[in-house]
Amino acid sequence: MTTERPIIIAHRGASAYLPEHTLPAKAMAHALKADFIEQDVVLTADGVPIVLHDIHLDSTTNVATVFPDRAREDGRFYAIDFTLAEIRQLRAHERRGADGKAVFPERFPAMEGLSGVPTLAEEIALIDGLNRSSDHCAGIYVEMKGSAFHHREGHDLPAAVLKVLQDSGWAERRDLVFLQSFEPEALRQLKYEHKTVLPLIQLIAENAWDETGLVDFDKLRSDEGLDAVAQYADGIGPWLMQLYTGVDDRGVPQLTDLAKRAQERGLLVHPYTFRADQLPPGIESFSELHRLFFQDLQVDGVFSDFPDRSRALSLKFSARTSP
Ligand code: G3P
Ligand code: CA
Repeated sequence: MTTERPIIIAHRGASAYLPEHTLPAKAMAHALKADFIEQDVVLTADGVPIVLHDIHLDSTTNVATVFPDRAREDGRFYAIDFTLAEIRQLRAHERRGADGKAVFPERFPAMEGLSGVPTLAEEIALIDGLNRSSDHCAGIYVEMKGSAFHHREGHDLPAAVLKVLQDSGWAERRDLVFLQSFEPEALRQLKYEHKTVLPLIQLIAENAWDETGLVDFDKLRSDEGLDAVAQYADGIGPWLMQLYTGVDDRGVPQLTDLAKRAQERGLLVHPYTFRADQLPPGIESFSELHRLFFQDLQVDGVFSDFPDRSRALSLKFSARTSP
């Protein structure tokens, strides 16, 4: 008998405990035995893939202090306007909102900038090294952030990411790598132009977020949309509230059929983002959240800021057994 359990993807590393996308957060995610460790990737002015969630530097680094006169007209500091040598002068800290306050005030102190912004190559080298020196083997789960934005700036983000994977020997490791994007065009480019063999995950946002300005995510969630996704992708990464919409008057969880319709088409389902300190409305505990998604919705994995707790709960609720 084999026992399966959903995979745990450390969202921006062990981001509940250390500032997102810093190498310490990635080392901790590895030590906590995350199955996969996530990288969001953007490019520098000199075309180097770096691990950063936003196309802007100002929410998670001290860029405004180090380079006070380098904002664009909208007041934001764009990573694509800085060379790698300049970005190496920055310190990364916990995410802060526009008001300068920590987005998650109970997490790591928001004023501390103990480490810098890593390149994708550096982060892969770290994970490679830990896979070698420890008894745990983690995969990588790379998101290309703003491929269309980079294209308008004269850069090819999917090609740059793939080049790093090729140079580091990860471009063929189907069992250890996922590539993800909110932009279907980026995934199609990887599959049809670059002919990658790596599994591709179509992320799904809400239209109201204006995540890309290019994609109708309501249409993408329809039967026809999922049929189209299944042509080029291996799975979907929906927002968790697209699978669970809240509780009714009697407190009964309301589930959608999105996961079922995706899995009927052979697509994996990896919802985001599981946070013990930001539970969805109507959910009373982190354990209950995982029970709902692992047992009732039967998802294939989750993005979690708390990879240790999600891993323990994936073991607890892994009811899926096969002869
Ligand atoms: O990539 C899955 C999840 O991370 C998407 O949300 O905004 O955290 O990249 P975001
Ligand atoms: Ca992401």
